Amino acid sequence: MGSRMAARLVRAGLDVTVWNRNATKCGDLVSLGARQGATPREVAAETDVVFAMVSDPQASLDLCFGPEGVLAGLNSGHGYVDMSTVDPATSRKIARAVEGRGARFLEAPVSGTKKPAEDGTLVILASGDKSLYDQSLGAFEAMGKASFYLGEVGQAAKMKLVVNLVLGGMMELLGEALALGTKGGLTGEDVLKVLSEGAMGNPMFQVKGPMILKQDTTVSFPLKHLEKDLRLAAGLGQELHQKLPVTLAVQEVFRKALEAGWGDEDIAAVVRSL
Ligand SMILES: NC(=O)c1ccc[n+]([C@@H]2O[C@H](COP(=O)([O-])OP(=O)(O)OC[C@H]3O[C@@H](n4cnc5c(N)ncnc54)[C@H](OP(=O)(O)O)[C@@H]3O)[C@@H](O)[C@H]2O)c1
Repeated sequence: MGSRMAARLVRAGLDVTVWNRNATKCGDLVSLGARQGATPREVAAETDVVFAMVSDPQASLDLCFGPEGVLAGLNSGHGYVDMSTVDPATSRKIARAVEGRGARFLEAPVSGTKKPAEDGTLVILASGDKSLYDQSLGAFEAMGKASFYLGEVGQAAKMKLVVNLVLGGMMELLGEALALGTKGGLTGEDVLKVLSEGAMGNPMFQVKGPMILKQDTTVSFPLKHLEKDLRLAAGLGQELHQKLPVTLAVQEVFRKALEAGWGDEDIAAVVRSL
């Protein structure tokens, strides 16, 4: 996601410095016109706004608080925008530290997978420092088709978990519908056609349905990340004393898929457990 989003920034004519813990992964972006930073600290020190996109809460914390992390390079006036999907508590911890250095923080997880990242059609969910949101709008327009400002830090993280709770449930149910239908002698193609003609037709079923039928394993959204999001949504439910019976059941299915070793495959691989 991060490399595709950074490419959008470079193509939009912004002055971009990139970093990845595996330096060779920056090659394509450098060819496109980006500069390469040696450490997150150096990138933060030398740029007005840092955009981060890493896998999970631990990665976000490492990137920020590590010995050569972003935090060490931030000064007053700088902005830090973490676009990774994490839980609200992780985001708040990073926000407090960033603000402690006189810099500004925005969490901005995204809805949309690798193709929307490539096309610049992500939906960006942002919360935190409003002036940093306003300052980032040009970059958000290069990366996304819409952005929402949702208030204080933690709110965008919650929105993202709410959205992915629906994604996980839909993915699992589509798999169950196809499994039951085909076992009952229907064709998968017919099941998908009938679903798409009715009120439950949606772009996700149109993409993932044929993938499941063809056993196409192209990775768009790694299963391990959706398992993480369902786990974080379940944790948020506990924290807010909100019952989430279906989410917990779906999370369990994804957890078992992860245990089966399918974490680096697309979320559609979850149907194999059926
Ligand atoms: N893929 C999607 O469809 C999608 C959609 C919406 C949101 N998201 C969210 O976006 C984030 C990134 O997803 P992705 O699909 O791009 O995942 P990914 O392909 O697994 O990439 C994760 C990135 O995080 C880096 N990373 C992991 N741990 C790190 C650490 N401790 N320190 C520094 N860097 C670290 C990885 O570095 P290496 O390259 O060195 O491994 C890699 O660049 C996740 O939070 C995910 O939930 C993904």
